[in-house]
Amino acid sequence: MGKEMKKHPIIVCRCENVTLEDVEKAIDEGYTDLESLKRKLRIGMGPCQGRTCLPLVIRILARKLRKSPDELLIPTSRPPISPVPMKVFLAEGEDDNEE
Ligand code: FES
Repeated sequence: MGKEMKKHPIIVCRCENVTLEDVEKAIDEGYTDLESLKRKLRIGMGPCQGRTCLPLVIRILARKLRKSPDELLIPTSRPPISPVPMKVFLAEGEDDNEE
C-alpha cells in the first residue's frame, strides 16, 4: 500500500459532468446561491432538468453555508403555461409549400 490511490471524482450532475469538487470550489469562490451556481456550472440545465442534481446541490450548499436546506432560496421553475405549436416559431412563409 505504498502507492497513493488516485481519487475518483464524485459526479453531482451527470448531464453536465459537474463534480462535487466543482460545486464546493464555486461556493468557496462566492457563488453562494442556487441561481448563481446554475449559471456558473450549468447544473440543472441538462436533459433531466436537474431532477437528480439540484436536490444534491441544495444539500451541498446548505452544508457549506451551515444552513438548513429550507433556509435557502430555491428558484422556481418556469415551464411553459401551455404547449406552443412549432409553427409559431417558424418565420412567416417558411411553412408554405408553394411550388
Ligand atoms: S443531472 Fe444535472 S441536469 Fe441532469
